[in-house]
Amino acid sequence: MRLNSPQMNIIYRACMKASKSLIRDFGEIEKLQVSSKGPGDFVSSADKRTEKIIIDELLKAHSDYGIVSEEVGVINESNQDQRWIIDPIDGTMNFLNGIPHFAISIGFEQNKEVICGIIFDPIKNELFFAEKNNGAFLNNSRIRVSNKKKLKDCLLVTGGPKKLSKNKDHIFSEYRMISNLVDAPIRKFGSASLDIANVACGRFDGYWQSEINLWDIAAGIVIVKEAGGFIDIVKVDPNNPNKINITASNSNIHQELRDTLNKKNIE
Ligand code: 2AM
Ligand code: CA
Repeated sequence: MRLNSPQMNIIYRACMKASKSLIRDFGEIEKLQVSSKGPGDFVSSADKRTEKIIIDELLKAHSDYGIVSEEVGVINESNQDQRWIIDPIDGTMNFLNGIPHFAISIGFEQNKEVICGIIFDPIKNELFFAEKNNGAFLNNSRIRVSNKKKLKDCLLVTGGPKKLSKNKDHIFSEYRMISNLVDAPIRKFGSASLDIANVACGRFDGYWQSEINLWDIAAGIVIVKEAGGFIDIVKVDPNNPNKINITASNSNIHQELRDTLNKKNIE
């Protein structure tokens, strides 16, 4: 495995160290302390432990870099030019229910652009990673997005609205519209970062999601781009720069997917 930039090496080390503890915790989920962050949104002692290992490693390497992380929030807020963006367990609900589909996601953003990132599924031992201008990889193999040409033939994945979303009806109507356009039933796997990683390696042809958090998808941005895919990101809340809508897909269907989602008068 060739990791070129110093930042990528730092992310990789932090991720591997944290994954050991995460795998241990997954083997003992009944012992974890779980608390609710809101309806359908939980955090466990495993999230916090994994996050702490990652952040300690990253701060050891660069004590002055900014950090945005799902559980602790922001560290070194004044540094907006170099930031690590972390989701210690993406797919917490899967994790807590013993479903082996979750990931550690860490991206590095420089001058507002994510330039390298890792999404690691420790159970399947799948490491997705990319550095700007160096291609995207799954373990030792170069990956590329799929080559499907028509939206109709595509296998798509999404996450659906959160319970408290004010846009629930709109999000469901988008789902209905897209599902009427594609032949294959839309998938829902419960880990945004792995949804995107699976677009990057061509298993899915496209992903869309409203009201997702930056840390869920930051690493995925550079991985999909380097895999030849297209990404669209729209900030949706002026009071919360980390809330976004996203589409990620192969380049052939991107316009059609976007146009469909942007259609007015969705019933
Ligand atoms: P998490 O597991 O890190 O919480 C599930 O469709 C995806 O949405 C997961 O990636 C999950 O991330 C994310 N998610 C869970 N709760 C969310 C919330 N309240 N707002 C936005 N995304 C959320
Ligand atoms: Ca997440």
